[in-house]
Amino acid sequence: MAKFIVEQSGPLQGDVAVSGSKNAVLPILAATLMTEGKSEINDVPYLRDVDVMCRILRSMGASVTEDWKTHTITVDMDRVKAEEVPYELVKRMRASIFVMGPLLAKTGKARIALPGGCSIGDRPIDLHNKGMRSLGARIDTELGVVEATASQLKGALIYLDFPSVGATENIMMAATLAKGLTVIENAAEEPEIVDLANFLNKMGARIKGAGTDTIRIEGVEKLHGAKHTVIPDRIETGTFMVAAAITRGDILIRNCVPDHVKPVIAKLMECGATVNDEVEGLRVRGDIKQLIATDIKTMPYPGFPTDMQALFMALLSTVDGASAVIETVFENRFMHAAELSRMGANIKVDGRTAVVPGKNPLIGAQVISTDLRAGAALVLAGLVAKGKTEISEIYHIERGYDSFMEKLVSLGAKITREED
Ligand code: EPZ
Repeated sequence: MAKFIVEQSGPLQGDVAVSGSKNAVLPILAATLMTEGKSEINDVPYLRDVDVMCRILRSMGASVTEDWKTHTITVDMDRVKAEEVPYELVKRMRASIFVMGPLLAKTGKARIALPGGCSIGDRPIDLHNKGMRSLGARIDTELGVVEATASQLKGALIYLDFPSVGATENIMMAATLAKGLTVIENAAEEPEIVDLANFLNKMGARIKGAGTDTIRIEGVEKLHGAKHTVIPDRIETGTFMVAAAITRGDILIRNCVPDHVKPVIAKLMECGATVNDEVEGLRVRGDIKQLIATDIKTMPYPGFPTDMQALFMALLSTVDGASAVIETVFENRFMHAAELSRMGANIKVDGRTAVVPGKNPLIGAQVISTDLRAGAALVLAGLVAKGKTEISEIYHIERGYDSFMEKLVSLGAKITREED
């Protein structure tokens, strides 16, 4: 297992380009299962999760070529050959569940090992199953495998009890080949859903309303391959914005969409950081004013993103004054609080609320990355903590950030990577 050794690094300065969005490219790759043609996806981030999704597509009969010089993936899906996603691939990536909708719509059957829980919650798929049943599928779950079968999916009115990102995407994909009209109400509104809908429409789907809480999908007979460039990763954007603030530095973030990070901009400015939307990108400075405490409450988009919660907890550990962090999306997403407390942050967690006292200087320590955003938060905390911080289980970080260490080092961070 590899680990990062992070030293106190002083203010980060310079410019960095954000990679394509992990949470957009994974469902987009899964959607290629529904075509018989060739698709070309550009601006693909170099991530382990992308590699796992490519393996899943190959196990289904696709020929997938990856060109990491141009960050392009080409998928040639002549005939889908399998209905079951191999367990050894599913257990490595929860996002394998995105294969359910496309496979069911294309072949009438999908068998997927139940994605396990993870450190942030037990990650149920009841809303995915509710959507598939509404479209006319039979869902059986036994021995840890979910099997969906349907001779012909039919459009339906589906209300999501919670605006689940994954369920919205899975249902939207399945509905593209259903007979008739599907309406998803209380749908998730994340930018990644809009990007997926744009790709599906290029493939010949007829989707309206993505990005709002009501999505209408008119079923079509078939879908053809398409070319698409993935949107920039808004959580990676937010991560480098926080890196500028926490190190009291000055970073220009290129290839980002400011509109996708409005809550992060607002909260950073509340803390006293300056954020300027310049022609080349977002310029974030933490070196102009004294940073102060602010409160965070995570909500579905367009609210403050749960994926930015750990990053902000690290930042709030370094400002003067106490902050409250409320996590409303996942039931157990404070594992990083204990790790930050090992560095002196002295965070108190009570249910879905964490109180970050601030003021205490962070001291380097040995810590564990419990999920990809927690890992990224510990790296940023290590950049400002006195001495050295050793972060283990960094495979979480490498699952979700393309060249994270290299990008930070180019901004002046002192980080090395060691194999355990
Ligand atoms: C997506 O996960 C993202 N992953 C997550 O990013 C992100 O944190 C999350 O959306 C919320 O924005 C990908 O897109 C690959 P949800 P997803 O379904 O789809 C409950 C990262 O760091 N729920 O919106 O799994 C669920 O338990 C990752 O990049 C049900 O109850 O999120 C959770 O409490 C982490 N039943 C809440 O909804 C269901 O059927 C939000 O989950 C589905 C979800």
